[in-house]
Amino acid sequence: MSQLLVFAGSTRQQSFNRRLARVAAGMAQEAGAQVTLLDLADFDIPLYNADLEARGTPPDVLRLKQALYAHPAWIICSPEYNGSYTALLKNAIDWASSPVKADPAWQDGIKPFRGKVVGMLSASPGALGGLRSQSHLAPLLLLLECWLAPQAFALGQAGSAFDEHGALVHAAQRERVRGVVEQVLWATQRLHGN
Ligand SMILES: Cc1cc2nc3c(=O)[nH]c(=O)nc-3n(C[C@H](O)[C@H](O)[C@H](O)COP(=O)(O)O)c2cc1C
Repeated sequence: MSQLLVFAGSTRQQSFNRRLARVAAGMAQEAGAQVTLLDLADFDIPLYNADLEARGTPPDVLRLKQALYAHPAWIICSPEYNGSYTALLKNAIDWASSPVKADPAWQDGIKPFRGKVVGMLSASPGALGGLRSQSHLAPLLLLLECWLAPQAFALGQAGSAFDEHGALVHAAQRERVRGVVEQVLWATQRLHGN
């Protein structure tokens, strides 16, 4: 059974990307995966600063590293700010990829990232659905030695895309999300055998 981590690069209460994360998580569960829906709002992570880090890596950074490392597959729902991914997501990734000098388990910064199968989704009220955030996120993830699923999906006009229960209204959009989820699980089976 694949262990899948799903998270969004937004902590906004009514975030479209958090809603999309919940949709993807539900589909992965239906497909038989063991899913962890991670909310970055549950992590107390300051803005990265090497001086701060020198005084000790925050406990929630270690918790994030562990969560990323424990799951062979991830789905990231990435909002778009000014044609790129959010500072929240970058900050979380920067902390998670920074070696912890005092801890032998985390001296390799890439350890939480290496070999992960990652599917990218995004949602935006605009027409492009946050697609440009994915185009910036992709090279970052490749640099950290993740395996990106070739399928990805950007949900445009997100303000009218969900019903009152958080489900996607249009079947075609549901199928695009399902396609990403299923490809991630397929590749995880082949790369990790679970
Ligand atoms: C500073 C800022 C810049 C933004 N730039 C873009 C953008 O380049 N493209 C886009 O589609 N939406 C842009 N938006 C709108 C976001 O897509 C919108 O706020 C969205 O709801 C954020 O994702 P969330 O709902 O998951 O929090 C921007 C929003 C902010 C606050």
